[in-house]
Amino acid sequence: MPARNLLTLEGTSRADLREVLDLARDYASGTVDRPLAGKIVCLAFFEASTRTAVSFELAARRAGADVISLSERGSSIQKGEGLIDTIVTLDSLGADAIVLRHPAAGAARLAALHTEAAVINAGDGRGQHPTQALLDLHALSGHLGGFDELEGRKVAVVGDVVHSRVARSIIPAFRAAGMELAIVAPQTLLPLDAGAWGLPVLPSVDDAVDWGADVLYALRLQKERMTGGSPRVPSVPEYARFYGVARRHLAGGAVVMHPGPVNRGVEVAGDVVLDASSLIPDQVASGVAVRSAVLALSMDVARSRVAA
Ligand code: NCD
Repeated sequence: MPARNLLTLEGTSRADLREVLDLARDYASGTVDRPLAGKIVCLAFFEASTRTAVSFELAARRAGADVISLSERGSSIQKGEGLIDTIVTLDSLGADAIVLRHPAAGAARLAALHTEAAVINAGDGRGQHPTQALLDLHALSGHLGGFDELEGRKVAVVGDVVHSRVARSIIPAFRAAGMELAIVAPQTLLPLDAGAWGLPVLPSVDDAVDWGADVLYALRLQKERMTGGSPRVPSVPEYARFYGVARRHLAGGAVVMHPGPVNRGVEVAGDVVLDASSLIPDQVASGVAVRSAVLALSMDVARSRVAA
């Protein structure tokens, strides 16, 4: 059975999403015992990460895998070794899955060409971040009472879309789950080809609330990707006024989501981040079971040890 990579959610289907989320629910409820026992999972993180790195590690360990962690510092990448040689080395050492975070879009796809191991994209530059979108769907369907409850819900994706791999994964995934989407962003934070999504673009979070958003999905202002000198937003307080989610936006029952890390008071008001209307802690908590499910599916051992 060839490895099943998870590189992108472009082209994903409702059935694919349901398969991962159903399995994640089983894993979260503890009915599957150590499906990854005997498997070697390599975590190769060449860009900063807290939530994704920690939850992948927990996900792999809880599911029984042997885990190797590699970062730029302390590895031969520091000596100039390239991505492909690093991947080939991990392959030779017997990795069954390689979880890769990398600053270059396309890095995971490139890696997958050079290994028999399953490659899981844990974020590649402005490319994709598929497990983030999957855990978001897990958190949201948990909040709403099931996967079928996602159908027809309205989600406003707010903020720095142009630099966001999260946006590039949640847009196809949320659509495949049957949700209706809109974007809330200034022109300077939209990709040139944003029109290809065919989504309405709204001028402020207030307008998203008027549109009937059930979910306000805020994206981080990714200053580390704003290269070239000219600022993308004239001032951060002004940005926060039009694109920041505040308590008043949640009064009608909408919930706020954010992949983290949050710039408190910019994308989401400080007093709202951990509020009852915030799914941000649920998103983080969903990461472990969802990533165990993704790893197990990628190595085709998902239900090999389902308890009787
Ligand atoms: C995101 C990422 O790194 O792409 N965070 C995450 O994985 N939880 C989003 C971000 O950094 O803005």
